[in-house]
Parts: sequence; structure tokens; C-alpha cells
Amino acid sequence: MGAAVIIAVDGPAAAGKGTLARRLAAAYALPYMDTGLLYRAVGRRVLDAGADPRDAALALQAAQALTPADLDRPDLRGPIADMAASAVAAMPAVRAALLDFQRRFGRAQGAVMDGRDIGTVIFPDATAKLFVTASPSVRAARRHRELEGRGIAADYAQVLAEIRDRDAQDANRPVAPLKPADDALLLDTSALDADAAFSAAMALLAPRLNAG
Ligand code: DC
Repeated sequence: MGAAVIIAVDGPAAAGKGTLARRLAAAYALPYMDTGLLYRAVGRRVLDAGADPRDAALALQAAQALTPADLDRPDLRGPIADMAASAVAAMPAVRAALLDFQRRFGRAQGAVMDGRDIGTVIFPDATAKLFVTASPSVRAARRHRELEGRGIAADYAQVLAEIRDRDAQDANRPVAPLKPADDALLLDTSALDADAAFSAAMALLAPRLNAG
């Protein structure tokens, strides 16, 4: 019996990873995990304690106490949750605490997992790795539309500034920085809608997934 099929989908915020990864999971009949929710839930727990998300001791405690129910919380998105997640995600101890959880999930039945370091750290031997990007302005426009769709008033310039801040924080951290794995397949979705991105991803993945 071969190893579980793992498809790693990494890339920056609002590049279209979540939508794409969900569709790939359905197409290949694999479980899906949005690993950003783990960091979001840890950040949320620290905020709930009335503390600064940069408090490393509390963040580690929160990561160790995380339960699957935390991932279903309705308050894991929005600018404050975004920055809290990005802050706790920069902490090596928090990342280490969440590593086994992610590996166990993937190894159980295979998986499509989206995040920042799935192909570089969590599953360096993944069956296939996609690195999904789009220009900051396209990603900000998408995030802006998504917020407005949810009835949240948002200022485009501010959304763009937050995307740039988060990119910098995620790419410049010393531990598991956001970068493509050497063997990742690159997919730029700047000029692609969700359907076109899915078709392009399926075409990129086919040689790796049908090879045996
Ligand atoms: O994908 P997202 O926007 O939900 O991720 C939230 C934050 O968590 C983001 O700042 C990057 C971080 N993250 C990470 O460091 N590693 C992952 N595998 C997933 C997310």
C-alpha cells in the first residue's frame, strides 16, 4: 500500500487557496483542512484572555489546549483575528505544538491541506505541491469584495495595507517563512477566476497524481 496522497496548497492571504483547495479535495475525494484556522483559533484564545497575541507563553498554552471545536468558532475572521493569527504563527513553539495535529490529519486518509508551510515543513514529501499567488492589488480587491459581501464595510486602501503587512510578517519570520517549496508547482491566479484557477490546478497536478 502506498503512502497517503497529500496535496499541499500554500501561498499568501487571499490568493484563492481556500476555494481551490476545497474543490481539489472534492475532485480527488480527499479530506480538506484549512490550516490557517488553527493559527486563527490560537490567536482568538489569546485575545479572549484579554492578552496581547504576541504573548508567547499564553499563545503556547492556547495551542496546546486547542480542540476541534475551536475551529468552528464564528469569530475567526476579520482584521483583528487576521493579525492575531499572523502574530502567533510566527512563534516556533506554537508551530511545533500544531505540527503533529496536522500530520496526523493528513496521514489518516490523505488530504488536501492549505496553508503557508504544508509543502516546506509539514509534508515535505507531499504527493504534489501547489504554490498559489496573485498580485497584492488583486488579493486586496478579492478580500474587499468578500468583506462587503458579508456586510462588513471596508476601505480598499486599508485592506491592501493589511495584506501587505501580513505578507511581510509571514514572509520575514525566521521560522517556516512563507516561500514556495523547491518542487512546488506555481499558479498565479491574478488573471484567473475560480473556475479557471481550478482547471489550471488540475492540469498542473495531473502528471503527479496520475503517475501511479
Ligand atoms: O490562511 P489564513 O489567512 O487563514 O492564515 C492565517 C495566518 O496564519 C496567516 O497570517 C498565516 C498563518 N499561517 C501559517 O503561518 N501557516 C499555515 N499553515 C497557515 C496559516
